[in-house]
Amino acid sequence: MARITAITSQKGGVGKTTTAINLAAYLALAGESVLLVDLDPQSNATSGLGLEGPERSVLPDILSGARSWQDARQSTEVERLSCIPSSLHLQVPVEEKQARGPGVQALRRSWHTTPPEDLTHVILDCPPSLGPMTDLALGLADGVLIPVQCEYFAMEGLAQVLARVRQAEIDLAREIDISGLILTLYSPEVDLCLDVAQEVKRYFPETTLKTPILRDSTLAEATSHGQPISVYEPRSPGAWSYMNLAKEVLEHEWSQTRTRA
Ligand SMILES: Nc1ncnc2c1ncn2[C@@H]1O[C@H](COP(=O)(O)OP(=O)(O)OP(=O)(O)O)[C@@H](O)[C@H]1O
Ligand SMILES: [Mg+2]
Repeated sequence: MARITAITSQKGGVGKTTTAINLAAYLALAGESVLLVDLDPQSNATSGLGLEGPERSVLPDILSGARSWQDARQSTEVERLSCIPSSLHLQVPVEEKQARGPGVQALRRSWHTTPPEDLTHVILDCPPSLGPMTDLALGLADGVLIPVQCEYFAMEGLAQVLARVRQAEIDLAREIDISGLILTLYSPEVDLCLDVAQEVKRYFPETTLKTPILRDSTLAEATSHGQPISVYEPRSPGAWSYMNLAKEVLEHEWSQTRTRA
């Protein structure tokens, strides 16, 4: 049963897309079969994987059942990592009605029932808002990963996104796992960054992941070259950060499976 994880935060520029691309790539390198779905009309995950989006978003057709997700996915440079691209043309890709409609549960069921040799992980890259695309992502997701940039007002943004997840749990009448808060753009030499990281860990000791993602300009370079860091520069602090993050995410999932068993 594939595990569906939304990478979400209403704050812009906190590292959602960089995390989606590089976590997905390291999960695939670890032997998992990964599908990255670009839910952001900005299409940064699509271009960051070196792909070109179609003229029109494919999502409405997938949600209406007119097209299968298998048919819409594109393979990438990384073995076992595929992507459903977003449209490069800015438009509202999914109407509010469709974001909460029956197509969402049908797609979720289809991912859950795909054999593991074809799919073990779905990663959803969300736009920086709490609008229809985030509704759609939460409707699809088993869990969420929330990047938190170590800067002023990090806690306020976090409270908002956590409240949105709790509301979605009530609306959907099921649990959504807070799979982790990820400290991103982390600079251990900057006092403010350390202070904010400590504050986040103090309030959320259980959910803050142990692996901080170091600030490393190579990550930005890799994305602009349309490659995950595992391909562009595997011997870099950014690459080590995401490799360790993938390991921690897999450990979290295995511990959950063991708890349920
Ligand atoms: N760890 C990092 N070190 C250095 N630069 C980074 C790091 N993570 C992300 N960046 C850069 O910061 C910018 C914002 O990152 P990213 O696009 O991943 O954020 P986002 O949350 O997806 O943004 P948006 O809200 O616009 O979708 C990008 O230019 C990216 O290359
Ligand atoms: Mg983004």
